[in-house]
Amino acid sequence: MSSLKAYLIFLNIVLCFHVITSHTCHSFKNVTVLLHQKSGDPFNKTVNGCIERIEFNEKNVVTEAYIRNQSLPTLGRESVRNMVKLKTLVFWGCNIVNVESGAFRNLPRLKNLQISYGNLKEISRDVFHAAPTLELLRIHNNEIDIIADQALANLPGLKKIYAGNNMLEYWNREWFTNSTSLEIMDFQFNKIRTLPRRAFENLQNLKQIFFDYNEISNIHDNAFIGLKNLDYLGLRFNRLVSINENIFPSSLKIRSLLLDANYLNYLSNELLNKISVSELTLDGNPWKCPCLDRIHFWLHSSNGTLNKADSCTGSSIPDCAISKTYSTTCLETVDSDLTKKYIKSLRGLSKPLDKYCARTDYILIAV
Ligand SMILES: *[C@@H]1O[C@H](CO)[C@@H](O)[C@H](O)[C@H]1NC(C)=O
Ligand SMILES: *[C@@H]1O[C@H](CO)[C@@H](O)[C@H](O)[C@H]1NC(C)=O
Ligand SMILES: *[C@@H]1O[C@H](CO)[C@@H](O)[C@H](O)[C@H]1NC(C)=O
Ligand SMILES: *[C@@H]1O[C@H](CO)[C@@H](O)[C@H](O)[C@H]1NC(C)=O
Ligand SMILES: *[C@@H]1O[C@H](CO)[C@@H](O)[C@H](O)[C@H]1NC(C)=O
Repeated sequence: MSSLKAYLIFLNIVLCFHVITSHTCHSFKNVTVLLHQKSGDPFNKTVNGCIERIEFNEKNVVTEAYIRNQSLPTLGRESVRNMVKLKTLVFWGCNIVNVESGAFRNLPRLKNLQISYGNLKEISRDVFHAAPTLELLRIHNNEIDIIADQALANLPGLKKIYAGNNMLEYWNREWFTNSTSLEIMDFQFNKIRTLPRRAFENLQNLKQIFFDYNEISNIHDNAFIGLKNLDYLGLRFNRLVSINENIFPSSLKIRSLLLDANYLNYLSNELLNKISVSELTLDGNPWKCPCLDRIHFWLHSSNGTLNKADSCTGSSIPDCAISKTYSTTCLETVDSDLTKKYIKSLRGLSKPLDKYCARTDYILIAV
């Protein structure tokens, strides 16, 4: 009995101790933080423990904090807390692998948060709850392959997210529940394979959507439903074999549409009638020649401009190819033989193409 009592007392002490120490953070050890204040020159401060009000005297006037090029593998609980005037917080090149949930606490005016050029693997569910006024989030150039559901939800001011150069294989609309102010969505250079149904339905303020340089082979029905005007829709350097018109709402206006370097043989007439485009890039696709002509005609008659792509373009790259089943009109069917032939001709060019254009990893999708 008495040993049980002793054990309970011991447990109690352990628990109390734990409660107290959990609010002491040890994330920063001899880390130099560049600070900007409301007035006065920026200055460097060496931080041990947390970035918090008491570190920076009574007057809480720090508005920007930058931590660059320092080793900082984990942002533990309450790494940055009670910084009520802080607007900008930047971690740049800090080999951060892990941002624990609760890493940030009470950052009521934070607008810009950047955790980039690190080794971040996962965005957990409640990391950003402490910063409800966030407007700009940069988490690009990491190794993120998991973003928890709702991780970017309930951020009503969030306008821009830059999440390119990560390892994401899928994109999920549940990430953004209630974050309806989003205007720029950038997920370039990931490994995303599909865009789901009604992906952007609740994000009607979107103006720029970047999914270039992914592995998208499938865009589900109504993916772009809810959108009326886009400044930019980037789908270049993906694996699209065809684009079904039912992914778009009727009369969608797109200022810049980038489709270069996919595996497209044609765009359907229905698609061309459904959307209008001011600027288009389409180089490096195995277009059937009559289908390419039809796109040119469509663009011309709607006063659109054809732009040259950044890469996968040039006099040596064929614009289109002739099907075995020769036709003077555009047959709206996928022709995988044509695509194979086209890719082979790209690989055979004497002047080597960049790795994205050459598609050395090309696997023909069965259709
Ligand atoms: C803190 O870092 C500086 C250089 O950034 C180094 O010169 C110094 O020795 C470090 N101090 C401790 C206690 O590690
Ligand atoms: C802060 O420290 C960084 C790197 O240690 C240095 O490059 C920079 O000039 C410093 N800035 C100020 C305002 O002292
Ligand atoms: C951080 O390091 C990279 C590469 O070592 C360098 O290019 C960059 O200028 C550095 N940034 C800062 C803010 O020191
Ligand atoms: C979205 O907002 C509504 C209304 O404020 C709320 O009821 C709902 O729980 C929120 N959704 C999530 C996933 O937090
Ligand atoms: C294209 O431009 C011409 C001349 O500016 C104009 O008359 C015509 O209505 C325009 N067509 C479309 C589809 O915008």
